[in-house]
Amino acid sequence: APWTARVLTLFPEMFPGPLGHSLAGRALERDLWRLEARDIRAHALDRHHMVDDTPAGGGPGMVMKPDVIAAAVDAARAGLAAPTLYLSPRGKPLAQDRVRELAEGPGVILLCGRFEGVDQRVIDGRQLEEVSIGDFVLSGGEPAALCLIDAAVRLIPGVMGAAETLAEESFTGDLLEYPHYTRPQEWEGRRVPEVLLSGHHGRIHSWRREEAERLTRERRPDLWSRYLARKGQGMRSPD
Ligand code: ADE
Repeated sequence: APWTARVLTLFPEMFPGPLGHSLAGRALERDLWRLEARDIRAHALDRHHMVDDTPAGGGPGMVMKPDVIAAAVDAARAGLAAPTLYLSPRGKPLAQDRVRELAEGPGVILLCGRFEGVDQRVIDGRQLEEVSIGDFVLSGGEPAALCLIDAAVRLIPGVMGAAETLAEESFTGDLLEYPHYTRPQEWEGRRVPEVLLSGHHGRIHSWRREEAERLTRERRPDLWSRYLARKGQGMRSPD
């Protein structure tokens, strides 16, 4: 079977959403990957199909019931030997290294939470990998799941048009991208940097590297430190 994203959600109609378009959408139509959105409510077996309940100890909001979530996770794991991730702002920050690993495996099972979250016992008991897509709070895990899937799917062989784009990306992988330009040579009084029009590929390469380094140093001291550390260890020699 192709790489599969199996999503557990109370809002299956949110999928494929934006992933039905553009690169990912075309690849979905070509069966290069699969998307299965499953309604968590199908596993709520009481008379009122209850999926949430009031928090133990009191307080605002609602908590998703452990029995319902466990049933949904157990059913999802049948027939797909993929990691189960729980999207949550408390999770470990998702980064490209993990995305790459996930893209190389059989797929992902993604649990999308709503309300205040899910009962901690199901996270512990089912060993869910809790991941965040950034230090901000979404109203639910669904947009985060869409982001994760997008990031993974574009790495699947055959999904991205130009293989060189991915090669370039892993080459300058620890740095922010250099600035891009296209025609016209002058627009609103702003010119394309002369070096890019020079045809000197060596100089163009150096300029892009320097720009990538400058942007990373200015905007992302965290990435800059890691880059310098890896460079020091002689990981990939940055020319
Ligand atoms: N659910 C709510 N906020 C989230 C975030 N930042 N990352 C992942 N899942 C979330």
